[in-house]
Amino acid sequence: MSIPTITSLVPATSEPLTLDAVIDAYTVPDRAATTVRVNFVTSLDGGATVDGVSGGLGRPADKTVFDVLRRLSDVVLVGAGTVRDEGYGPMRLEVEAAAWRDDHGLPLHPVFALVSGSLDLDPQSEVFTAAPVRPLVLTTTRADPARRAALDVVAEVIDCGDEHVDPRQAIAALESRGLHQILCEGGPSVFGSFIAADAVDELCLTISPRLVGGDSRRIAAGPVSDTPRDLRLQHLLRSEELLLSRYVRS
Ligand SMILES: NC(=O)c1ccc[n+]([C@@H]2O[C@H](COP(=O)([O-])OP(=O)(O)OC[C@H]3O[C@@H](n4cnc5c(N)ncnc54)[C@H](OP(=O)(O)O)[C@@H]3O)[C@@H](O)[C@H]2O)c1
Repeated sequence: MSIPTITSLVPATSEPLTLDAVIDAYTVPDRAATTVRVNFVTSLDGGATVDGVSGGLGRPADKTVFDVLRRLSDVVLVGAGTVRDEGYGPMRLEVEAAAWRDDHGLPLHPVFALVSGSLDLDPQSEVFTAAPVRPLVLTTTRADPARRAALDVVAEVIDCGDEHVDPRQAIAALESRGLHQILCEGGPSVFGSFIAADAVDELCLTISPRLVGGDSRRIAAGPVSDTPRDLRLQHLLRSEELLLSRYVRS
């Protein structure tokens, strides 16, 4: 499969990376050890969106890495706001990626886990009706019973807290289902709650060469962390003017 030209700045290599080399760059040493990996794209001036969605920031290489991260994950965790705003569809990988997973002893598709307190999610949406794997909905004990009952038909609804979805309870719920490679695709509220819980192991951050100005939000929102954490630069890739970083817990 051909991919955009991507070179590695850190560690420095001269040859463009193949798809296999990009996959290697994001492969964890031990799939059985739980990893919470978060993937975001930001503008140069720190904005997470253009016209309310992230698509205006991406470039082909960002999409390549976005897809690679999905193929390497057991579960893709996304906040309901992002599912609604970005118009998410079912968590179905391309044929080549699904075949690659099969070759590597993984299920064809990762599980889709949605985070929602309100359960304002349409059970008739293709997120559920066209899902290759029954999605998970992570919610709270206070969630509306009627909405819960409607979603129960198309998904597994799991309580992970009373007031809010507690990231630690959410991770434990995923681990107990054998889902250790957790890819969080946002959005800012979910990321903020995971930072506050000191539950982030990796940030894969794409820096788009774009200035957006305005009051576009940043990639994390919510409570201030009591435990600011430094991450270590694992690699820095470049594709034209786009930078693709991978920061991991020291
Ligand atoms: N630049 C990027 O890479 C990127 C990535 C993702 C998203 N985005 C952008 O981010 C924006 C959406 O931001 P957002 O903050 O609304 O996204 P979000 O974090 O995906 O969604 C927020 C919603 O998720 C649920 N939620 C999140 N944390 C929760 C918790 N701890 N407990 C219970 N429910 C929780 C709530 O859903 P309910 O309302 O259903 O209770 C909440 O309203 C969109 O414009 C999207 O395009 C950008």
